[in-house]
Amino acid sequence: MKPERITVETLLRKKRHGERITMVTAYDWSQARLAYDAGMDLLLVGDSLGMVVLGYETTLPVTMEEMLHHTKAVVRGAPQAFVTADMPFLSYQVSQEEAVRNAGRFLKEAGATAVKVEGGSEALGAIRAILASGIPVMGHLGLTPQKVHQMGGYKVQGKTLESARLLLEEARILEEAGVFSLVLECVPAQLAERVTKNLAIPTIGIGAGRECDGQVLVFHDMLGLIPGRGPKHSKRYAHLASEIIDALRHYGREVRESLFPEEGHSFEMPEGVLERLDRESGEGALKESDGGARKAIPERGQKEFARF
Ligand code: KIV
Repeated sequence: MKPERITVETLLRKKRHGERITMVTAYDWSQARLAYDAGMDLLLVGDSLGMVVLGYETTLPVTMEEMLHHTKAVVRGAPQAFVTADMPFLSYQVSQEEAVRNAGRFLKEAGATAVKVEGGSEALGAIRAILASGIPVMGHLGLTPQKVHQMGGYKVQGKTLESARLLLEEARILEEAGVFSLVLECVPAQLAERVTKNLAIPTIGIGAGRECDGQVLVFHDMLGLIPGRGPKHSKRYAHLASEIIDALRHYGREVRESLFPEEGHSFEMPEGVLERLDRESGEGALKESDGGARKAIPERGQKEFARF
């Protein structure tokens, strides 16, 4: 059976019916295929790719071109999926015009379905302008990694009365503006629950407890693709880093011991061709050595050349 094509309407319906929404980040063709085949409702090309794929310290250096490059690959891997692309740092803050142009590139050039914008009232102008151009926007409140330096690090947000009030208010403002869903990152579970209850649009939590309408995890974190401990809010559903290292060590050992490739991994010459080739190169070598030039170089493993 073909999986249901997810739309903004589907997500709202899921919220109304209390059906949880599943989202995971994906950054390339194969990850997108795997995530889509696994039945994820939403794929997010997060600017977290700066950290888990490109090796930057933060998400701040990520460019529009890098985001577009990865979004295109994700859409190629899962053309039927609802793909949301993260607006990278400074792609929407400078002017509303730039925000609309950049958001539009994700749909026009990369084939994304929607964009995600970090921030509340400070990003409202850009969010409204993007929405007015017909592009669905996912909001993102709580820990917004593009403000890492302003926040003084990656810290849980909304723990004080004042910041909790502000988050509730910002969530309401974003919903009113027209975002179709809202990521809540690293906020206390009880606060996320209240935000979720106050909104008609679905909340998607990451480090925000289980009362959100859906959950999102970073692909590399949930699959244990990066050696060492992952973030507290993520659960490791696999430990692929150690499996990959084991597999690579195994391969290296087999190459060093001439155990790989086996017969099944090699290709055979058609009958008669090799004999002719050997004869001809034998003749060629003789002719050249007659003239005092180069000798035919025996290939490893071809014993019949040993006499040269
Ligand atoms: O960039 C990202 O991966 C994100 C998720 C953590 C929500 O924004």
